[in-house]
Amino acid sequence: MPATSIGARGAIITGWGSALPPRVVTNADLMRTLDTSDEWIKERSGISERHVGGTTSELSVESGRQALRMAGLDPSEIDALVLSTTTPDRTVPATSATVQNALGLKCGAFDVNAACSGFVYALTVAHGLIAVGARKILVIGTDTLSRITDWNDRNTAVLFADGSGAVVLEAVDGPGQLLAWDIDADGSAEELLYCELGGTIHMEGKEVFRRAVRIMVDSGQKSLEAAGVSADEVALVVPHQANIRIIQAACERLGIPIERAATVLHYTGNTSSASIPLALVDALNAGRLKDGDNVLLVGFGAGMTAASAVLRWGGIR
Ligand code: UT7
Repeated sequence: MPATSIGARGAIITGWGSALPPRVVTNADLMRTLDTSDEWIKERSGISERHVGGTTSELSVESGRQALRMAGLDPSEIDALVLSTTTPDRTVPATSATVQNALGLKCGAFDVNAACSGFVYALTVAHGLIAVGARKILVIGTDTLSRITDWNDRNTAVLFADGSGAVVLEAVDGPGQLLAWDIDADGSAEELLYCELGGTIHMEGKEVFRRAVRIMVDSGQKSLEAAGVSADEVALVVPHQANIRIIQAACERLGIPIERAATVLHYTGNTSSASIPLALVDALNAGRLKDGDNVLLVGFGAGMTAASAVLRWGGIR
């Protein structure tokens, strides 16, 4: 669909948090069981180590709690929980139900699955809820890909990992931070990246790579254009953390210097729904954003989905 500009009632991010399981798996650890090398993994993907462990609900509760605390909100004040995940703890109910209960939220809760683009989808949906009257929303992106990875398959095992990132969105009078958004999907490419129920991830890495750059650039450009923001006005790009070479190629084609990209994949690996919020939180905690800065979030994933959003940082609730 075409990228869409935002109407009158918007939202700002007032709190954020992240969670990584304590267990670190290095490239050297993987070399013990796989025909691979630290050099190959770093050169081809940019990943040095990753965190593995925990459940989607446990990690979500940790990042969600941090975000609520930072926003200074009591759980009872939240109007909705939107959890992006491809790796729910159960088929039914949605993992958001477990998280809602554990955090003591008294509100509607649902999961969104748009693979690695999911956090931007969830953020967009949350803005839609704000536009129709919700005031405070907790948006979480979490995946535990280690549970659906074949640890004997060197094509995928060196890439995927676990993590969670969360933000609190609060309504404001006026337009808020979100300037424009875009969500896309091409279901005809489903066979390139999938996991059967109870199975492990199958991926045509080369073809996913090729398409990833194209659809990230396409989605990013659509949102930038709808926002009226040029590439050189982007202070920070927060891309899906799949492969540093994909990020470099996408930045180059978007005309955004790589120094403006938020990257965490060297220590997180590819955490799917968590990757964009983990990178955003890392950049925020490092003080990389100031009021008025334009931020481009852009992801791609199985499905093949793509999503982007342009935020103008700052605002007072
Ligand atoms: O969230 C979205 C999900 N996925 C992605 O974004 C993945 C997109 N794709 C990629 O990131 C890259 O395609 C990979 C990192 C998966 C692979 O990198 P590549 O540069 O496309 O490598 P390749 O598949 O062309 O493989 C090159 C060589 C092959 O050997 P030959 O045929 O040249 O002898 C592979 O068998 O590297 C071999 N290889 C490995 N070697 C050591 C494949 N995996 C490994 C490995 N360690 N883990």
